[in-house]
Amino acid sequence: MKRTLVIITHPNFENSVVNKLWINELSKYPDQYYIHNLHEVYPDGILDVKKEQALIEGYDHIVFQFPFYWFNCPPLFKTWLDGVLTYGWAYGSESGYKMGNKKVALAVSVGIDEKEYTPEGKYMYTLEQLLAPFEVTFRYIKADYQGFYAYYGIERDSSEEAIQSSLAPYMKFIQGV
Ligand SMILES: Cc1cc2nc3c(=O)[nH]c(=O)nc-3n(C[C@H](O)[C@H](O)[C@H](O)COP(=O)(O)O)c2cc1C
Repeated sequence: MKRTLVIITHPNFENSVVNKLWINELSKYPDQYYIHNLHEVYPDGILDVKKEQALIEGYDHIVFQFPFYWFNCPPLFKTWLDGVLTYGWAYGSESGYKMGNKKVALAVSVGIDEKEYTPEGKYMYTLEQLLAPFEVTFRYIKADYQGFYAYYGIERDSSEEAIQSSLAPYMKFIQGV
């Protein structure tokens, strides 16, 4: 059976609503999903690079999940990219490209409404454009990028009903990675 690695970076997971809902659902299916919570595993923010690389090597389907903070990922995920995607492992030599052909995707919770992430909206750029650095990073390391799932508008509507409505499309997306 396919087992997907989900690497979640949330600086304030205790108070999370959306990401917690998603992760709690995945945790019901441990044979299908392995959840790696970076802030939980590394509360001091210091990564064990070799361990992270070994973990990645064990999976062909990987989802990176985070809440959208300041139009970007939370800093520990950037630290992860900088630290783990090393020369000779992720790229740049014959022994490299260890993530080559692995299916990778993003799952992002977004506070602002989708309509603001349009050329006519307040923030002008689409999420696809704002997430382009991740897409090109995956391209650089020859991973097989499957796109992203985003749930928008939590700041406007954080009702139980709205948050719950994010779960089915999230699960469908994750299953397809
Ligand atoms: C420090 C910080 C920065 C944020 N920056 C953005 C942002 O740039 N764009 C946006 O749409 N939402 C932004 N938000 C809202 C979060 O994306 C939103 O609260 C989060 O995705 C909700 O998920 P959670 O319930 O798992 O925490 C920000 C929130 C915080 C705390």
